[in-house]
Amino acid sequence: MKIATILGTRPEIIKMAPIIAEINARGIDHVVLHTGQHYDKEMSDNFFRDLEIPAPEYNIHVGSGTHAKQTGLMMEGIEKILLDEKPDIVLVQGDTNAVLSGALVCAKLHIAVGHVEAGLRSFDMTMPEEVNRRVADICTAMYFIPTENSAINLLSEGFSRKNLMITGNTVVDACFRHLEIAKKRGFGEQSLIDLDIDNMDNILTLTMHRAENVDIKERVTDIIEALKELNDMNIIFPIHPRTKNTLKNFGLFDELNDLEHVHIIKPIGYLDFLLLTSKSTLILTDSGGLQEEAITLDIPALTLRYNTERPETVEVGGNILVGADKKAILENANKILNDKEFADRMKQAPNPYGQGDAAIKTVDAIEKYYSKGLLDIKAPEDIMDSFERKMAHIEEDITVADFEEKQNSLVHMAYDGEKMVFPADELNLNGMMITYDKR
Ligand code: UD1
Ligand code: UDP
Repeated sequence: MKIATILGTRPEIIKMAPIIAEINARGIDHVVLHTGQHYDKEMSDNFFRDLEIPAPEYNIHVGSGTHAKQTGLMMEGIEKILLDEKPDIVLVQGDTNAVLSGALVCAKLHIAVGHVEAGLRSFDMTMPEEVNRRVADICTAMYFIPTENSAINLLSEGFSRKNLMITGNTVVDACFRHLEIAKKRGFGEQSLIDLDIDNMDNILTLTMHRAENVDIKERVTDIIEALKELNDMNIIFPIHPRTKNTLKNFGLFDELNDLEHVHIIKPIGYLDFLLLTSKSTLILTDSGGLQEEAITLDIPALTLRYNTERPETVEVGGNILVGADKKAILENANKILNDKEFADRMKQAPNPYGQGDAAIKTVDAIEKYYSKGLLDIKAPEDIMDSFERKMAHIEEDITVADFEEKQNSLVHMAYDGEKMVFPADELNLNGMMITYDKR
């Protein structure tokens, strides 16, 4: 079996690292294609170093540009490499332009796509990421899904449950493994050593780069107005290059940088970042990955967004959406700082993203699919017969797997009376309403 992995940005490197390490540990033939979307050392190379994964075999060097330009260049580059390498499955992760391009190319070449972190939905089609992840899911053969909630999103869109695998999120694998390494090593980044972070209290780690915040002057201005008033906190802001550019263009960079309690630094490596966040009182962010890491590290998070494709973090109480709303940012930040009970409740929120074994589950599933020939994407050979979707109320003890065998059917959705539940093979359907496909 040969696996190809496509990645191109900082979070993809971080979240694919545990899977790359697992594939390599099992001796599976593997090539990694970097699209070159992130190219600064601080946004790319440093992560291969910190996460101890080999440099990619290919780099397409697409660089920065409009969505159409990046996506087009990526598709052309990816197609050429895949025609040469002929992998059995191509892995893409998350929702960047690499995911869109990789999935589209594979669909046309009839190569199976494995979408890592599939099923997330913000239901906000103005976000490029929402478009990318939805299109990728149409082209996907194996869905590696972090939570039951995301699996239900996919079921609701009509995808067959057979290819949906709830694995947890590989960010937990990366976090657990590398926090230990980081703690042993200590801070490596000079800017953090100079700030004497080890002896600093009331740290607020800030990241923002989302187009819908940093490209809109009113929104960044409101966020900065809130930051100005959070002057009993030490705000550490490793700035994303996109944000640095837009703050400079809006003439806001110097104003922010001049504030005594705000420390703007270059983006930092993964080990330093994990150490910094784990020492923080509060995380203020619009990052996707950081919402997950905050809950994994038991740090309260305020998310600078109006919606999130990680609603689990909010439901369990570890994350609060504050938008770019100065009042909401200040009220919640001050509460976390001054109300210990409130902060403790946020810290104690259970982690919805698994135990840190997502990479093992993902590679196990790929090996199983390969051994059963399920990665071969072929045109159907049987003449299509009828297909009926039915609904039933189940009034006996029977598992999903047994029901499917008995009825020669595939269970699509299950409702327990209040909410939808994921119809895993072993789920007892007694008392549930189900929809199922009869063949
Ligand atoms: C991309 C992803 C986003 C992800 C983020 C992770 C898409 C549509 N967006 O956003 O989902 O959350 O990565 O960080 O795929 N730049 C540099 N050096 C670099 C990379 C970028 O200076 O190494 C600057 C360029 O000015 C560029 C800007 O940052 O125009 C934005 O980069 P881009 O790759 O378009 O998107 P991100 O904002 O990084
Ligand atoms: N991160 C990092 N150094 C930094 C800022 C972030 O290592 O200076 C890591 C962080 O731990 C998280 C990931 O980058 O795992 C998030 O990336 P980003 O916010 O760029 O993208 P998103 O997750 O929003 O797609």
